[in-house]
Amino acid sequence: MSAYDTLTVELGDRSYDIHVGSDLLSQAGSLIKPVIRAKRVIIVTDENVAPLYLNSLEKSLESEGLTSESIILPAGEQTKSISHFEQLIDQILDLKIDRKCALIALGGGVIGDLTGYAAASVLRGIDFVQIPTTLLSQVDSSVGGKTGINTRHGKNLIGAFYQPRLVLADIDTLDSLPKREVLAGYAEVAKYGLINDLKFFEWLEETGIALCNGNKEHRRKAVLISCQSKAKIVAEDETEQGVRALLNLGHTFGHTLEAETGFNDTLLHGESVGLGICMAFDLSAHLGLCSKSDADRTRAHYAAVGLPTRPTDINGVSWDTDALLDHMQSDKKVENGKVTFILAKGIGGAFIARDINMDDARHIVDNAIKQD
Ligand SMILES: NC(=O)c1ccc[n+]([C@@H]2O[C@H](COP(=O)([O-])OP(=O)(O)OC[C@H]3O[C@@H](n4cnc5c(N)ncnc54)[C@H](O)[C@@H]3O)[C@@H](O)[C@H]2O)c1
Ligand SMILES: [Zn+2]
Repeated sequence: MSAYDTLTVELGDRSYDIHVGSDLLSQAGSLIKPVIRAKRVIIVTDENVAPLYLNSLEKSLESEGLTSESIILPAGEQTKSISHFEQLIDQILDLKIDRKCALIALGGGVIGDLTGYAAASVLRGIDFVQIPTTLLSQVDSSVGGKTGINTRHGKNLIGAFYQPRLVLADIDTLDSLPKREVLAGYAEVAKYGLINDLKFFEWLEETGIALCNGNKEHRRKAVLISCQSKAKIVAEDETEQGVRALLNLGHTFGHTLEAETGFNDTLLHGESVGLGICMAFDLSAHLGLCSKSDADRTRAHYAAVGLPTRPTDINGVSWDTDALLDHMQSDKKVENGKVTFILAKGIGGAFIARDINMDDARHIVDNAIKQD
């Protein structure tokens, strides 16, 4: 078996490959060289990832005759800010780059989103490569070209659709990832099964616990299938005019929970998505769209791997239905005052629902935050 699998995101002249496998960092130089125009790259990474992986990446680039400089940013969601964006652009321009220079994002979704947006903006767009090092970024944020930063008005409110030239998902980098971050990424992995792939979900029911505990073969297969699933949807609908919205399963409820806790470590994005997916299935069952057993099965699976499945599982937060519904109504995905939900006619049967009565959503939120 080869050391990695390759799939292509089909977007005409902006198509690009995603390689998924082991030991990709040490091959990064030879894989990146053919897809970029210059012999010079700038690596953007964070303080946690740099000591672990920057050196191997630099060595691999050097062995192919590519020169690199690196910029190391603080870790965490606060780095996806306007002030860090400004500093990053200045640091890049200080290096006197030209239009052919490429950026490499080495890190999780924070580094990927920020670096991608910098690549889209600086000199009106330069090449960039994603080397995602968290499970969440390997299965979700590095694929599909959404880049951006947060403002005080909310998450990802400034950004661009800007596709990378290549994505290298080296599953070996997940070995150093804290378990809580693995689980947060896993919530998005299972999402792909729940959206449109019952067989994948059934396989995850068998392998999910081992996968979360470090099984590499399972990780590799799960990352590959997740990327294939996302790549297919993105190829059909790059800028989210329609079907791409399915990827937001769990995100309407999830974002409201995250907004309430302040987008910090109290509740990680993936954890909120897992909670939101359970609530989306509760709403689907409440409306008679799917069976209660499908909703129970979804929750049971997330609970089995160790994810929270009710907002009340999160310590130290007192939830309030009105506050949560307020967040829901002010989300950027609200159109003409209507909140879009992704609901399901069963596991693997997600669809876009634009006409949901907010009393039904309120009922689900009320129930979810009720202490037993
Ligand atoms: N662009 C998209 O389509 C998209 C999709 C989903 C999420 N996102 C964004 O992604 C971000 C979240 O990404 P994330 O979950 O990767 O968070 P993150 O980038 O903050 O990484 C999580 C933590 O893990 C550390 N880390 C990263 N790789 C590591 C490794 N291999 N070993 C040890 N520690 C490591 C980081 O330093 C950080 O502390 C959010 O800002 C979210 O909005 C974007
Ligand atoms: Zn998400």
